[in-house]
Amino acid sequence: MNWKKIYSERLMSPEQALKQIPDGGRVVSGHAAGEPTFLLSYMAEHKEWYHDVEICHMVSLGKNEYCREDMTGHFRHNALFVGGGTRKAVKEGRGDYTPCFFYEIPRLFESSLPVDAALISVTPPDQNGKVSLGVSVDYTKAAAKNAKLVIAQVNDQMPYTYGDSLLDVSEIDCFVEHSAPLPELKPSVLTKVEKDIGYNCASLINDGDTLQLGIGAIPDAVLLSLKYKKDLGIHSEMFSDGVVELVEAGVITNEKKKFLPDKMAANFLMGTKRLYDFVDHNKNVAMYPADYTNDPVVVAKNDRIVCINSSVQIDLMGQACSESIGLTQISGVGGQVDFIRGASMAKHGISILAMPSTAKKGTVSRIVPFLDEGAAVTTSRNDIDYVVTEHGIAHLKGKTLRERAKALIAISHLVFREELIGVYEERFHCKFE
Ligand code: COA
Repeated sequence: MNWKKIYSERLMSPEQALKQIPDGGRVVSGHAAGEPTFLLSYMAEHKEWYHDVEICHMVSLGKNEYCREDMTGHFRHNALFVGGGTRKAVKEGRGDYTPCFFYEIPRLFESSLPVDAALISVTPPDQNGKVSLGVSVDYTKAAAKNAKLVIAQVNDQMPYTYGDSLLDVSEIDCFVEHSAPLPELKPSVLTKVEKDIGYNCASLINDGDTLQLGIGAIPDAVLLSLKYKKDLGIHSEMFSDGVVELVEAGVITNEKKKFLPDKMAANFLMGTKRLYDFVDHNKNVAMYPADYTNDPVVVAKNDRIVCINSSVQIDLMGQACSESIGLTQISGVGGQVDFIRGASMAKHGISILAMPSTAKKGTVSRIVPFLDEGAAVTTSRNDIDYVVTEHGIAHLKGKTLRERAKALIAISHLVFREELIGVYEERFHCKFE
């Protein structure tokens, strides 16, 4: 059938589309800047249509109305990554967290986590009847491929991206047209501590390296310190405005990449309109599903990849908790371990966990003798490579437990160092020298 006919037959009101979601069903929605916020808000406004519907996604930039207390019985949230807007609901028991590596999520939708409905954001169809998933291909494409029902918010403000971001109109059951600006995430205002961390990380990055950067202030600070490097490349899970700045400054060229040369590979994006305009119809940006970008074997194809992520707490053995404060889940593993493992398999690859040495306005050390009770070990001591704080760099791979403890104490905050040295001397039966 002609794609135009399919599209016009499946074009409908939000009510016609969203009323098809079954009671007790699982809805997987796109996330980050690709969150179909109009559809999710519409569902919450008509909560009486729904009973025990699970809303499942990763990073949310929307309003998360379905997490409110008055939604109990109508919706329940299943977080594949806990964010600012969903933290309270998960903590208070109105939502759950499902531990999972990012690269495995697309496969979960084929088996352990069946999808009743996928809610996605797409561009209007191109001349070949294809829509682009734009800034969220990650797990969204797999959700759409595996769902019994696919509802798309057709947004003419969604950038059209290349890579593996296209769906045919025949793969979508319901089209709801709604134009809206994409959710934005403003660049962080950097503190001195973050800038010092960025500077320390930058000292481990050489001209021609390929980078993976996580979200937030520390990646922004690292990018700020890279202004004088040359020919950097990007193979990441996501990237933000800071990368655009370095492309425009001629620092990121992707020319030295042997794998996907000349392309910046990612699976989702979050930033401002500047970023979204930059990626629109940009042949140098390639958006792929997460089971490709984040597969450690694919990551390992990037010689000299440097992966930079952050953490909450690291013990003296090098076990890193990057997702909870004790038992309270504050985020998720995301792609942290995917990239750390990929980097360790890559030729000359390295991985860095970068974090301030303290938290809670300097009142607690993030380098600790033991992880808090209930804390999740996100990155195991077998996987960890470099740890960076504002006080320096600790290289842990290939080091004994005693050497690790010593290297980590050397980059802890001075206020906590004496206490940590006491723990070291008692544990290893030797003087800290
Ligand atoms: N003890 C007590 N509280 C702590 C703490 C500690 N050791 N470490 C952090 N906190 C608190 C902070 O004070 C802050 O509280 P606030 O929100 O009240 O200010 C909160 O926890 C968040 O910590 P912060 O370090 O500021 O968060 P961030 O935004 O810089 O993100 C991670 C850091 C680790 C949570 C984030 O990088 C992450 O989720 N990583 C795992 C996923 C990942 O790496 N994905 C790969 C790339 S996308």
